[in-house]
Amino acid sequence: MKFFIDTANLDEIREAYDLGVLDGVTTNPSLMAKEGISGEANVRAHYKAICDIVDDKVSAEVIATDYAGMISEGKELAKIDDKIVVKIPMIKDGIKAIKYFHSEGIRTNCTLVFSAGQAILAAKAGASYLSPFIGRLDDISYDGLELIGQIVHIYQNYGFETEILAASVRHSMHLIKCAELGADVVTCPLKVITGLLKHPLTDSGLAQFLADHAKAAGK
Ligand code: E4P
Repeated sequence: MKFFIDTANLDEIREAYDLGVLDGVTTNPSLMAKEGISGEANVRAHYKAICDIVDDKVSAEVIATDYAGMISEGKELAKIDDKIVVKIPMIKDGIKAIKYFHSEGIRTNCTLVFSAGQAILAAKAGASYLSPFIGRLDDISYDGLELIGQIVHIYQNYGFETEILAASVRHSMHLIKCAELGADVVTCPLKVITGLLKHPLTDSGLAQFLADHAKAAGK
C-alpha cells in the first residue's frame, strides 16, 4: 500500500518524507489556497517546490472544467516536473481529457469520485489513479469504505490497471480499513500517518524496558 500526503504545506511534506514511508503528494485548489498560494507563476513554483522534496507522484489539479481548457492546463502542469500527475475532476469533459492524457502517456488522477459508476468510467478512460472521497461520503451518511470495497471488487473483475487512491481519509482507522479492503494508495493528512504509531502498550512497555535497564546498570 502506498501513502500519499494530502497537503500543500511544505513543512508537513518534508516531515512525512523524512519518516521514510511517503510515496507521493496530493493537492487540490482548496489546499493550495490554504497555504496562500495564488497566481499562475506562484502555483507553478509551489508545485516545483513540492516535487523537489519527494521522489515521485505529485497530483496537481486543473482549474478548467472544459475539455480544451483541461488539456492546455494539464499539459502545462505536466511540464513542471516528471513527477506531476494531472488531477482531473470526474465530469464529462474530464473523462475525455483523461482519455487524451492516457494516449499521450501523461499520468492522471481522477478526483471527486463518489460512486462505482464513476469509477468504471474513469478506469475505462485510462486514469492512472482514481480518488474516491471516503470522508465526504461518511459526512452525508453514505458509507465511504463500502464504496472502496465495491470498486476494488469491480477493478479485480476486469483487471483494470487504474490504482484506487482512497481520498478524504480523516483518521487512522479509515487508513487501516482501506488496507484491509485492498486500496492501492491512501492520501491523508500527516496526523493520520503519525496516528498509526500510537499505542499505550508501546509507550508503557518502552518505559518499563528503560527503567529495568537503568536499574540493572545501577543508575
Ligand atoms: C483528495 O485528493 C482530496 O485532496 C482530499 O482527500 C479531500 O479531503 P477532504 O474531504 O478531507 O477535504
